[in-house]
Amino acid sequence: MMDQINLGLVGGGTVGGGVWQALQRNGDLMAARLGLRLNVVRMAVRDPKRSRGFTVPASVLTGDWSEVVHDPKVQVVVELMGGVTTAREVVRAALKLGKPVVTANKALLSAHGPELFALAAKHGTNLYYEAAVAGGIPIIKALRESFAGNRITRIAGIVNGTCNYILTRMKLEGAEFSEVLADAQRLGYAEAEPSLDVDGHDAAHKIGILASLAHGFWVRPETIHTEGIRHISKLDIQFAGQLGYTIKLLGIIQPIASPASAAAKKTKKGATDGQASGIQVSVYPALVPNTHVLASVNHAFNAVAVRGDTVGDTLFYGRGAGQDPTASSVLGDLADAALDLRAGNHHRVPPFVTHNGQGKVASMDTIASRFYVRLDVSDRPGVFARIATVLARAKIGISSIIQPEGHTGETVPVILMLDAASNLAVRKALTAIGRLPVVKSNPVMLRVENLD
Ligand code: NAP
Ligand code: HSE
Repeated sequence: MMDQINLGLVGGGTVGGGVWQALQRNGDLMAARLGLRLNVVRMAVRDPKRSRGFTVPASVLTGDWSEVVHDPKVQVVVELMGGVTTAREVVRAALKLGKPVVTANKALLSAHGPELFALAAKHGTNLYYEAAVAGGIPIIKALRESFAGNRITRIAGIVNGTCNYILTRMKLEGAEFSEVLADAQRLGYAEAEPSLDVDGHDAAHKIGILASLAHGFWVRPETIHTEGIRHISKLDIQFAGQLGYTIKLLGIIQPIASPASAAAKKTKKGATDGQASGIQVSVYPALVPNTHVLASVNHAFNAVAVRGDTVGDTLFYGRGAGQDPTASSVLGDLADAALDLRAGNHHRVPPFVTHNGQGKVASMDTIASRFYVRLDVSDRPGVFARIATVLARAKIGISSIIQPEGHTGETVPVILMLDAASNLAVRKALTAIGRLPVVKSNPVMLRVENLD
């Protein structure tokens, strides 16, 4: 008789339901591939009486997660309930029993990752989290295993399906932010609390996990510079398009050269990774050139571009949110968990290893980039000169300045494209520009990322 691994699911919503249905569909195929069968013996949900669009035997369903975790038949616990409070209790309880846990919960890992990974190690078991980052894309496995022989020199990614879906529809259809957010919720992309998506926190949770894996020190969420997409207007999407760019919510992880190593590079004395003054770990909407592949990643698709010193450039693309893609990553983790259990090796690949005790996140103020700025100004002579004077004093170059045709009234938009400058310098200059009497509303500032 074929070996069987018994699973206990905590959560039977979008992702949990996807896992249940995918196992019904592809359970035989997985059994043939793995040589063992994955069998859901318990599933906890908040309301066992609720109709779910799929049938789970009453003997399997419960409203009490601890029945699932403590059921002696359950060998692997799958946490798909979301949130950070009860979910933490669920995961802690399972790990303490030495049961491997599979989770899709990036908020939980971001808030309590070090504690949970330490608990898994202490109890000789493992925590698998492929579905926590970029939905169906196997980026965790790639970073943790396939790129083990690389120093990661840059990760740039679109890792929030909801924001990408909203920005895509705003660009392609000229739709309003609020109209498309409702659709993202209906399609199962958005978090239960959609501000996690649109304010950039979900992307920051994921980018923090990737940064921790890539650079070997735990990146605390509060150190990640995070901006969302609420303030992105149709007007900025339209102007960016006219300039040859697409606005995307980008996560960026890259070592920032220290001033000493940058100077050494300029004088060709050579600079090394070891001289980085910190790692940029940030999430913000940015203008991406239309010629760059990330500009063409649309709707709920995600893409993560990873550059390693040995491999060079790689690109991972796929559906970043939704029932089936996320279930696919959970099933991949379940295959690993089951095979690890059968081999009696609970941590063939440790979930997360601190390999760089010295790492730190660089302050956003010190990071330089190019900038797009939109100002709402009085339509009268001398305005450009006043703005240019402030920028000149701050030693910030202007690469182009446009007053688009067709805008009339007391105020008109002016678009500035700025040369590379530090975030601190640009922030200070825009504060001064915002105080000019000819500038009628707060300047809109977006970074331009060429991703060369
Ligand atoms: P969801 O649709 O809201 O499902 C949550 C499930 O958890 C529901 O079945 C709910 O029960 C159950 N639940 C909630 N509280 C519970 C409790 N105290 N005890 C037992 N069960 C409880 O959420 P989801 O979209 O599937 O997301 C689940 C996790 O996957 C989250 O961590 C999320 O961040 C992550 N994730 C989601 C996606 C996506 O595209 N949706 C993608 C990647 C990762 P009821 O059904 O009775 O309400
Ligand atoms: N709410 C998340 C997103 C789900 O939109 O990307 C996938 O993690």
